[in-house]
Amino acid sequence: EKYKSQNLKKEMEKILPTSILNLLKLIGLYGNELGLNVYVVGGFVRDLLLAINSKSNGTKSIPYDIDVVVEGDGLLFGKYVAKQLRAKYIEHPKFHTCSIFYRNGENKIIRIDIATARTEYYEEAGELPKVELSTIKKDLYRRDFSINAMAIKLNSGSFGILMDFFNCKKDLEEGKIRILYPLSFIEDPTRILRAIRFEQRFGFEIEPNTLTKLEEAVEKGYLEKVTGMRIREELEKILEEPEPMKAVKRMGKLKIIFHLFEKTYYSPTLEKDLEKLFDVKGYFKANLPSYLNKVRLFHLVLDVLLQYTPEESLKKISERYGLPKDFIKNLMQVKKVYSEISKDLNDKEKILKLSYFYEKTNGFQNEQLIFLAVKLPEELLEKYYEYLRKIEKLKLSITGKDLLKKGYEGVQIKAKLEEIKKKLLNGEIQPGEEKNLI
Ligand code: CTP
Repeated sequence: EKYKSQNLKKEMEKILPTSILNLLKLIGLYGNELGLNVYVVGGFVRDLLLAINSKSNGTKSIPYDIDVVVEGDGLLFGKYVAKQLRAKYIEHPKFHTCSIFYRNGENKIIRIDIATARTEYYEEAGELPKVELSTIKKDLYRRDFSINAMAIKLNSGSFGILMDFFNCKKDLEEGKIRILYPLSFIEDPTRILRAIRFEQRFGFEIEPNTLTKLEEAVEKGYLEKVTGMRIREELEKILEEPEPMKAVKRMGKLKIIFHLFEKTYYSPTLEKDLEKLFDVKGYFKANLPSYLNKVRLFHLVLDVLLQYTPEESLKKISERYGLPKDFIKNLMQVKKVYSEISKDLNDKEKILKLSYFYEKTNGFQNEQLIFLAVKLPEELLEKYYEYLRKIEKLKLSITGKDLLKKGYEGVQIKAKLEEIKKKLLNGEIQPGEEKNLI
């Protein structure tokens, strides 16, 4: 086998927490006991190499979910490892993989995913690999990008040997996202979104040939062939990144957003709304955190992306991505309120009373309140925030019972309470003065 052989044992001993290091060594030892070659692969290797190169002694960025590949029966090996470690074993028969949950000395649970080295991948038109590939090499070749296609051997005696068959380490050092075979995006179109996520996370660049292939796959409608659930998972992962807006912009430019949401044309206006959403969300987090309760960023982003989508398409999209049943209704409601507010803008006396926002948004869910903040004209935003702060704390010193005693009935009670609330909001009465009004 020709590959640049490098042993990372010393670096691993320096940089990995002892518990992880020892666990990897044990997995290697068990490999020897069963006569199987075992490797740690994928994101773990990528992040380890990045940590080694960054020269900081920070191991924080290394995720401790460990992907292991076995040249041989992965399930048999997994059962053996779980037994030796006295760890919990879960099999995923559909994927022919298993997971082990190991509780380490510090009572932390470490997840180890184990798979059999796999070989199936698609080559371009009848081209077969020219050389017979070893199994781990084949397994690595069918992966998404070169930066994720390295393995480190764990067996005792060869612990720490980096398996880099495709110049992956060089791409990692040069910051390139590169597919390993031409049909990569066609075989698994979710990689289109993964390419963008890794590019933006690490500040890397999708290299030209990979970008061409990516654009072709988008253009030919391969994103549309993937289930909504898989797309949704990848989008949510993008939104969990520290700076999701970078990836969103890239997806807009590459027409990915258009192919995910059939009526959404990525424009400068839409981009501004999305940027505003992240600003607004930051404001809520710092100043009005209780309004973020039960709010999902994915839904907020979709509110913005789908605000101009006609209802027919909304139904399709909502079903495809598994949106909650009141998503469309809530979105339409905010749009309606927002257009009413736009018409009232000249009536300063009306719109600058806090009770105005109460009338417009009473009964809104948190997600709707935040989406409305995104759409409101700048000049109203401060007032709106003031309203949200005030209504959050507002508590009447009288109740429906007090009104009942005074002879109010049914709908009158509700109306009176609302009237009092609005007066409090506007500062027309002070807390404690409610009783004077009944
Ligand atoms: N992989 C792939 N194609 C995909 C998804 C995953 O080839 N569509 C491979 C990659 O080698 C990847 C590994 O499976 O490294 C594990 O995938 P995952 O856990 O999703 O990603 P990580 O690389 O671990 O990245 P993250 O840091 O986001 O967890």
